[in-house]
Amino acid sequence: MDHKHFLVTGATSGIGYELVKQLHYHGARLTLLIRDEEKATQLFPTKSFPNISFIVCDLNDTTAIENLSSDFQKLNVSFDGFIHSAGLGYFKSLASHTTEELLKTYRLNVIHFAVLLNVIKPFLVTNPQIVALSSMSGLATQPYAAHYGASKAALIQILNALRIEEPSYHVLNVILGPVKTPFHDHSDPSGTFKRKTALFMLKPEQVAKDIIVAMNKGHQELRAPKWMSMMLRLYSLAPRTIEKAAKPFFMSKKQ
Ligand SMILES: NC(=O)c1ccc[n+]([C@@H]2O[C@H](COP(=O)([O-])OP(=O)(O)OC[C@H]3O[C@@H](n4cnc5c(N)ncnc54)[C@H](OP(=O)(O)O)[C@@H]3O)[C@@H](O)[C@H]2O)c1
Repeated sequence: MDHKHFLVTGATSGIGYELVKQLHYHGARLTLLIRDEEKATQLFPTKSFPNISFIVCDLNDTTAIENLSSDFQKLNVSFDGFIHSAGLGYFKSLASHTTEELLKTYRLNVIHFAVLLNVIKPFLVTNPQIVALSSMSGLATQPYAAHYGASKAALIQILNALRIEEPSYHVLNVILGPVKTPFHDHSDPSGTFKRKTALFMLKPEQVAKDIIVAMNKGHQELRAPKWMSMMLRLYSLAPRTIEKAAKPFFMSKKQ
C-alpha cells in the first residue's frame, strides 16, 4: 500500500473508517469524499493522519459528483484505487418506504457509484483497484429490506460487468453479512435486527483487515462470514423451496 493513493467514500463511519485507518497505517495516501467536514476532521486530525485529505461531496447529489472532475483537475491528482464504502438501507416493508428513502438508497448504493466510476476514470492509473462493498442481501430474497437488497444486487451486476469491460482494473467485490457498525442505527432504529444477529455480527476491524489482504492478493471477491456464504450457495440451488423451509431466517429484517 506504500504511497498508493486511494479515493474513498464512507470513511467517516463503520467499515470505511476502519479501512482508512488501516490503509493509512500501511502507508497509503487517501482522499476522502465526505459530507460532514467537522466529523471528518475530528476522526482524522492532520497531526495523526498527515496523508489524508478531504473533499466535501454529498453523495446523494448527482451534480456535486459530476463537479468533482474540476476538483481533481485543479488538484492534478491520479488515483491508484477507488473504494466505495458509503451505503445505506431502510429495513422496512416495500409499502413503508417513502419516495425519498427509496431514491436515496439506489442513488448512494448503486447509481452514484456508477456516476463516480465515470467521473474518476480519467484520473485513474492504468491498473487501478476498484473495491466496492456490496452485501449478502444482494444475493437472496429480502423481505423488509427489498430496496437495500435490490440496490446491492444491482451493484454486484455492475462490478461483474466492470471486471470484464475493463480488464486492466482489479475489481474486488466485498460481499458481507451483518457487521457491527452504526449502519444498523439508521437502517433499523428499533434495534430488532441488531438483537437478532448480535451473536454472529462481524467486527469492522477484522473486515477491514480482510479487505486489505484481499486487495494485496488480487482477489476478485471477499465473502464473510463463510458459513452464510455457504448457505447462500445452497439457497441458489432451490430458492423458492428454501424460502418456505427457512422462513424465519428470511424475516430477520422485519421490525
Ligand atoms: N454494517 C453491515 O451490517 C453491512 C453488511 C453488509 C454490507 N454493508 C455495506 O458496507 C458499507 C459500509 O457500511 P457501514 O456498516 O460501514 O455503514 P455506516 O457505518 O452507516 O457508514 C456509512 C458511511 O456512508 C456515508 N454516507 C452516507 N450517506 C452519504 C452521503 N449522502 N454522502 C456522503 N457520504 C454518505 C456515511 O457518512 P456520515 O458519517 O456522514 O454519516 C458513512 O461514512 C455499506 O455500503 C453497507 O451497505 C454493511
